[in-house]
Parts: sequence; C-alpha cells; structure tokens
Amino acid sequence: MKHLISFADLTQHEVIELLEMAEGLKEKRARGKLTDLLKNRSLAMLFEKSSTRTRVSFEVSMADLGGQSIFLSFKDLQLGRGETIADTAVVLSRYVHGIAARVNKHSTILEIAEHSSVPVINALSDVEHPCQILSDLLTIKEYKSDFNGLKYVWVGDGNNVCNSAILGCAIVGMKMVVACPPGYEPDERIVKSAKELGGDITIINDPFEAAKDADILYTDVWVSMGDEDEMEKRLNDLKDYQINSDLVSIAKSDVIVMHCMPAHRGQEIAAEVMDGPHSVVYDQAENRLHAQKALLLKLMG
Ligand code: CP
Ligand code: NVA
Repeated sequence: MKHLISFADLTQHEVIELLEMAEGLKEKRARGKLTDLLKNRSLAMLFEKSSTRTRVSFEVSMADLGGQSIFLSFKDLQLGRGETIADTAVVLSRYVHGIAARVNKHSTILEIAEHSSVPVINALSDVEHPCQILSDLLTIKEYKSDFNGLKYVWVGDGNNVCNSAILGCAIVGMKMVVACPPGYEPDERIVKSAKELGGDITIINDPFEAAKDADILYTDVWVSMGDEDEMEKRLNDLKDYQINSDLVSIAKSDVIVMHCMPAHRGQEIAAEVMDGPHSVVYDQAENRLHAQKALLLKLMG
C-alpha cells in the first residue's frame, strides 16, 4: 500500500496489522507513553470542506508521534487562485512526507495521488471515507472481539461512509445489509468490487427487515457536505430511515449503534439512541486518533 484512497487499497492482512498497531498505540497513550517514531516528519493536511474529528485526530496523531502537521485550507492555497492540483501535489511532495486531503470530488484525490511522490490519505471524498471505517473496525473489534459472522446493518443514505463500510465489511468478513430508499443506494462500482472480494452484501428498502438480528446498526447524516441543495427532498425521502428505539428493539440485545458523527438527533438517529446504552459513537470518534496513528506509521514511518 502506498496511498489510502479507497478502503479497498488495504488487504485483510494490512487491516488486521493496522488494528493491532492501533490497539498498542492506544494502550501506550493511556499509560502516558508517547513515541517519536515520526520525528522530523511532516504531514500536509488539505481541506476543501469542514472537519472536526478528522482534522484534530490527524493533528494530534502527528504531534503524539513526534512529527508535525500543516493545516491547509483550499481557499488559502494558490489553488483558490487557479494553480493546478497537479502542481500543488508535486510541490507539496518536495516539502512533506505525507498528504491527507478532504475533497469535494473523488477525482481530486485521485489527481493528488497521481502527482504526489509521498503517500496520500483520503480524509473523505464524495465517494469514500476510508479512515472512518478503519477506526470503526477498531471499535467493533473492541466490543465484539471477532468480525466473523457479525451482521452489520447500514440504515439511511448509501453515501461515502457507507461505500467504505461495504468494502471494509467485505475485507474483514462481516455480512452487510444496507436499508435505503430507492435512489439512495451505495455506489454500484463499490458494491461490485466488494462482491469480487467475497463480500456478502444485500441492499433492501425496509429498515425493519434489515435490522433483524443486527450486531451493528450504523447510520450517517441524511444531508452530506455538498448535498445541501437537496436538503428538503432528502429530509422527506429519508424520514422513515431513522435509528430509533423501535428499530433497536429488532436487533440483537447486545447490538452496538454506530454513527461517524457529526450527528443530527431527531433526523437519522433519535436522541434516546444516540445517548442511550447501545451507542458507541464517542468511542468511534476517539478511535480515529489511534487508528490513524497506526496508518501514519505504516505509510510514513
Ligand atoms: N467523522 C468525521 O469524519 O468527522 P469530521 O467531519 O468532523 O472530520
Ligand atoms: N457523509 C458525511 C460524513 C461526514 C463525516 C459527509 O460527507 O458529509
């Protein structure tokens, strides 16, 4: 692996190795022991859209590992005045040891990777969010120990996070069911790739049918960054796809409820579930730090 653009850039072996590294790093941090394994290494972080978790977890990861990060908003770079993505990637590669980028269009991250001579990490595009799924697998491992035989149910919009989850489930061997309204299905090419990887993936419309015996119930916002123009239509089309107590009662009694955050209580998730006993959402957010540290070490160490 040179870049992490799609979750499918990782093999099962690499995922297992990264999760083990992340567990070790998490345990070390809890004991107050930090390392300097990325001393004198720099990460450029290019953001074309907002972020709380991804930005802060990458910045703290680099600091904890003895390196440094440089936050760069697209609008402050010369990119905003017409410099090309290609020139930006070539030049940044002369300064830093890795580039993480959050972009509107997936083609932008592909273009950065094409022209970069240092590892490139997709920090979210309109098609995938692989860093989120890597850390979610760490959270699932902590709660369920083993991925084998687990039923992972996605409820709502078949978006970028859903696409990476489909690949993640296929790679680690979890059965996945997506429940979404017609027109909100995940990317067909991703579903095809997941099936080629041996993934057991079903896409249906009924969230109650999907939630039966679920080990994991997962949702994300109904209106992703970039979809704001369709706000009204989306809120209406997705209104029956909320994770609430009725849906949780259909799943296994030890189901964990996951959300990548930011969350909108009362839309895709009911407040009583988000803040209830099955919710592991804050563990997910924390694990971004530990999983991405492992990733940075693997790519830049
Ligand atoms: N889950 C996630 O990527 O959050 P941010 O948008 O805050 O980075
Ligand atoms: N699907 C959401 C995820 C945010 C972390 C978005 O793209 O806005």
